[in-house]
Amino acid sequence: MTRTGRPLSLLLLLPLLFACAPERDYVPKVVDGDADRGREALARYECGVCHMIPGVADALGKVGPALGDYSRRSYVAGKFPNEPNTLVRWIVDAPAMAPQTAMPAISMSEQEARDMAAYLYESD
Ligand code: HEC
Repeated sequence: MTRTGRPLSLLLLLPLLFACAPERDYVPKVVDGDADRGREALARYECGVCHMIPGVADALGKVGPALGDYSRRSYVAGKFPNEPNTLVRWIVDAPAMAPQTAMPAISMSEQEARDMAAYLYESD
């Protein structure tokens, strides 16, 4: 075994690491979504009881995943490609998409869900 063996194999792994990186470098645009109203709606609907949401007061919940930097997620709830309309549908009625989910359906207008999605995509 030569001393160069390990660094070489690490180098060979590098391209694989980049290929797997689940990062996105653009912010999806939610048609008719307003991030300021969305931040207010996230607080009003108390999503923060279950989620940590940066920039939303008292949103420190640990029941569901933290929702920061959402534009960099590849999937909504680990299952559905992260696109604006999918995220909006999830926010309005998660159990309709994933019957086993612990996230409840929350009664709100589609406009409010659009605003929340806009905030989640635009905030860090
Ligand atoms: C009772 C707790 C609870 C409440 C209230 C709640 N959620 Fe969730 N949420 C969850 C759980 C648990 C998950 C993980 C579900 C899964 O993966 O099946 C989740 C998942 C999500 C996801 C997907 C996260 C990811 O990793 O892709 C989003 C987005 C989301 N919730 C947004 C919201 C918004 C917006 C509200 C308020 C309107 C809200 N949630 C209210 C429990 C909650």
